[in-house]
Amino acid sequence: MSAEHDRKFFDTFMLVLGILIGIAILLYVLARIVASGTQEQHVITDPVNQAVVAERIAPVAKVAVAGQDNSALAPVQAAAAEPAKELGGEEVFNMACMACHGAGVAGAPKYGDKAAWAPRIAKGMDTLHKHSLEGFQGNSGFMPPKGGRADLADKSILNAVDYMVAGSK
Ligand code: HEC
Repeated sequence: MSAEHDRKFFDTFMLVLGILIGIAILLYVLARIVASGTQEQHVITDPVNQAVVAERIAPVAKVAVAGQDNSALAPVQAAAAEPAKELGGEEVFNMACMACHGAGVAGAPKYGDKAAWAPRIAKGMDTLHKHSLEGFQGNSGFMPPKGGRADLADKSILNAVDYMVAGSK
């Protein structure tokens, strides 16, 4: 009697287990079906994402076809650089020259140091102007062209030279 009872219990148990596994698989499949329609859709349809992808997969080369409107192929014109405007000597000195000439770093003649500037001033302003624009390798160190500020207008640099010289006589 007990053996039969056990078998019955075992059969029922396996049946219940089977149904539960079936439900689990069903839920998984259902979830996949529902998700496939929505998963990451917001990313895929995001205009920013689409633009980035379009840019990445754009062909490297474009072909101009005779007789068609090829204006879209014109190389992008770099926005005409605004000519650097002229700045005052003191302003330029403070932002571009003081790093070296303020404290006399790396052999730079210090602002206000009459002894250091006298022999340089003796070379003439034209020479000092030229050296400040083109750079100058002297005995005491290296003066980079425009003090490393190629973005500044020539006239701004020359103003700074005049300012430094005027303050060092
Ligand atoms: C990276 C450091 C550095 C910066 C920044 C710098 N200078 Fe100089 N400058 C030097 C050094 C070093 C010398 C000395 C070179 C020598 O005579 O050996 C020098 C020398 C000069 C001289 C004298 C040149 C000569 O013929 O004797 C002038 C003029 C001058 N600098 C102007 C400027 C101006 C103007 C600026 C800012 C726009 C500037 N410098 C920024 C390092 C610098």
